[in-house]
Amino acid sequence: MRKSLIVLLSLFALVGATAGAALRPAPATPLPKVVVYKNASCGCCSKWIDYIKAAGFPVEVHDVDDVSEFAAASGVPTALGSCHTALVQGYVIEGHVPADLVQKLLTEKPKLAGLSVPGMVVGSPGMDGNPAQPYDVISWTKDGKTAVYAKR
Ligand code: CU
Ligand code: CU
Repeated sequence: MRKSLIVLLSLFALVGATAGAALRPAPATPLPKVVVYKNASCGCCSKWIDYIKAAGFPVEVHDVDDVSEFAAASGVPTALGSCHTALVQGYVIEGHVPADLVQKLLTEKPKLAGLSVPGMVVGSPGMDGNPAQPYDVISWTKDGKTAVYAKR
């Protein structure tokens, strides 16, 4: 009798522990580090860096002399160039790309090389100003196929 009571109590303890583990919220997965390459004198680059940090991404920043050379070496098509190039989990993020699209890219992991907001569009993240311009976020593949990834 006593033995079966102990078995029963241990069973309750086990069930309790399991239920507790299930109810505990899953730890938030930390976002991967975004490594940004920019020119030391680029003000809007720093604003985008602040913006992407505020979105929760850890950021590492490197100053380079020739941004377009670095972009080309990273595989960014010439027509998609902007003021800075960022690398995150094997993807290239060129220019003032919105953080939610970086998150979407990292979640969905499509066969793309990267995303770009070509040029410097007023109204894109880190490029505050009036009037804000609508813009396309462009994706490209390793073999150079570009497409509109999102419209903003
Ligand atoms: Cu810029
Ligand atoms: Cu920039």
